[in-house]
Amino acid sequence: MTKPFIEKILKEMTLPEKLAQLTQLTPMYLGTDDSIDLTGPLNELRLQPEMVCNVGSVLNNAGAQKSIDLQNYVLAHNRHKIPLLLMADIIHGFKTVFPIPLAQACSFDMDACEASAAIAAKEGAVSGVHVTFSPMADLVRDPRWGRVMEAAGEDPYLNACVAASMVKGYQGKDLREKGRLAACVKHFAAYGAPEGGREYNTVDLSEGVLREFYLTAYKAAVDAGVALVMAAFNTVERVPASANRRLMRDVLRKEWGFQGVVISDFNSVDETIAHGAAANHADAAEKCLKAGVDIEMMSTDYMNHVEQLIEEKKLDAALVDEAVIRILELKDALGLFENPYKDADPVAEREVVLCDAHLRTAREIAAKSAVLLKNQAVLPLKKGLKIGLAGPFACSHHLEGGWSIESGKAVSLYDGLLQKGAADRIVTAMTEELGSMQDGIFDVPDQTQAAYEALQDCDVILVAVGENPSDTGEGSSKSSLRLSANQEKLVRVLHQTGKPVITLVFSGRPMEIKPICDDSDAVIQAWFLGTQAGNALADLLFGDVNPSGRLAMSFPYTVGQIPVYYNHLQTGRPCLPGKEQERYVSRYLDCPNDPLFCFGYGLSYSAFSYHDFQVRKEGDGAVASVVVENTSERAGTETVQLYIHDVHASVARPVKELKGFRQVALEPHEKQTVHFAITPEMLSFYNSDLHMTFEHGDFEIMIGRNANEVWTERLYL
Ligand code: GLC
Repeated sequence: MTKPFIEKILKEMTLPEKLAQLTQLTPMYLGTDDSIDLTGPLNELRLQPEMVCNVGSVLNNAGAQKSIDLQNYVLAHNRHKIPLLLMADIIHGFKTVFPIPLAQACSFDMDACEASAAIAAKEGAVSGVHVTFSPMADLVRDPRWGRVMEAAGEDPYLNACVAASMVKGYQGKDLREKGRLAACVKHFAAYGAPEGGREYNTVDLSEGVLREFYLTAYKAAVDAGVALVMAAFNTVERVPASANRRLMRDVLRKEWGFQGVVISDFNSVDETIAHGAAANHADAAEKCLKAGVDIEMMSTDYMNHVEQLIEEKKLDAALVDEAVIRILELKDALGLFENPYKDADPVAEREVVLCDAHLRTAREIAAKSAVLLKNQAVLPLKKGLKIGLAGPFACSHHLEGGWSIESGKAVSLYDGLLQKGAADRIVTAMTEELGSMQDGIFDVPDQTQAAYEALQDCDVILVAVGENPSDTGEGSSKSSLRLSANQEKLVRVLHQTGKPVITLVFSGRPMEIKPICDDSDAVIQAWFLGTQAGNALADLLFGDVNPSGRLAMSFPYTVGQIPVYYNHLQTGRPCLPGKEQERYVSRYLDCPNDPLFCFGYGLSYSAFSYHDFQVRKEGDGAVASVVVENTSERAGTETVQLYIHDVHASVARPVKELKGFRQVALEPHEKQTVHFAITPEMLSFYNSDLHMTFEHGDFEIMIGRNANEVWTERLYL
């Protein structure tokens, strides 16, 4: 029910004022010159200057005072005193930067994901932001796509858990609460499935796959109460998402009951023309408004063409009113009509942003997000060792990753080691942070022989390698996932010293790390862990924190394997164990089918054994249980994973589907029984008529430590 005061404002607004309310610009167009435009083509906007003060929202303004100034400018010029909505890309932290979302997903710790979002909201809100363009819930299977760093990996269930946790962290229970942001789940839909992993490329999926894998996490965000949804750049069934009525009116609004605001992506309304799905700006405006896009981000087709479309009876003015009402209701939900500045407070900003409590939490979450991939009894490091340190990320402060409002301010690995009192025992070589980092073409000089000589009498050698941080995020697709030749050579040459080599990989995506793994005694996937990266990695290296990260996305042997993901179909000629040499089975001649490291994989300094795995029917479902024991002398956390396989059904089903996980913290020699309830709803799927159904039949219930190491029981349900 629309509040009377909103109805009243609507009645008094002219059509041009309404259309301005549906338009979002960067602040530079509102007279403040320093917008932090993080993305997108600044196309030639055909703005009506007199309407600029009536725009409904701006994006990527940051700073309490700047936000207050912007709000004052709009309130002084807007006839109806409609407050401005300030939105920003706060993707994994505001000034306190947390691990990239793909790394946070590897923590498998939903409390951590919620906590990082809550801190991001506190810092963003006090800096004058009202809405964040997060969580990104795009399922991803292709690390050639640079934006996998923003995603939560290849599994729909984990994606859904992360998306819902982040919405709760940002929004809390009431958007009017201090320190809360309205969240915007994106990019609706399936932006994470571009052909060839090439940015903005065509997405072409069957509706069954779209619904089962790609829509799950957006729906979880909607069910968690997300306030906005962002339409994606890509086509879905050949129609650009921004103009896709089936997707937005039928699925999002009618089927899921979403009543919030839909915002386009940057210029994506106008890009329906480039897609060849709109003839011109007017056609783009007509199609996108009919499809249900309420806010047009950084293009002005609504502002410039809707009035004429209404006159020509091509558009119903009611569509404009419903969009304006949704936007005004969002502003009301944030309390902006009572207090247009919400939390913006330059004094509080200095206390809240980057405060010690936030930095401590960032350090804890960073340590949970790194993944120990290999450890041949060389980690944790003993105190007192002489440590060699090499590689372009050894002393780098660029460890925040893409979509960070500020970068180059992270605690470096070297700093982290110094904090452990290792100053007099660290020898560095070939660590300069190359200028090419900024040039975007990333390599390191071939000074490996010098590094060999400098470090050969160390007790252990740490090598910090990876991909250029500016090569991740939007517009960063790659056809090769190899580290640069000189980085691979550096690891290889240092391995020839015969000293233990521990390689840390800094990247925003799964890279092709087989070569450096073969030349390392231990490997840590260090992602881009944010502001506290160096401290968190030092905590892990010295064992002050026991690694607990588990991969949310498969690491391929080679880019030629892509897409490689665990929840694949069986095929009619599966390459089952023992058939690897058979010709006519589904396999490669030159590469295994399995990835180098699978979904859910990660090592600990502890050792966990599983026993007494049992599954029994209960009602129309089942209960599975297993005893997990820490058989080591070190306390640690294990992520126990529940998978199912519907052995035969009316459509082929994935060989495995994650349906639950439980993190158990165990003291040395402690054991715990972990239970999972399995319900028909968990076993349901979209049949060929696209109805969500449960079909009785044989099911394999699996519990294990990762997608490839499971214990299995079969039963009929
Ligand atoms: C970008 C991105 C989107 C972001 C928006 C605003 O192009 O696709 O994720 O939120 O524009 O910066």
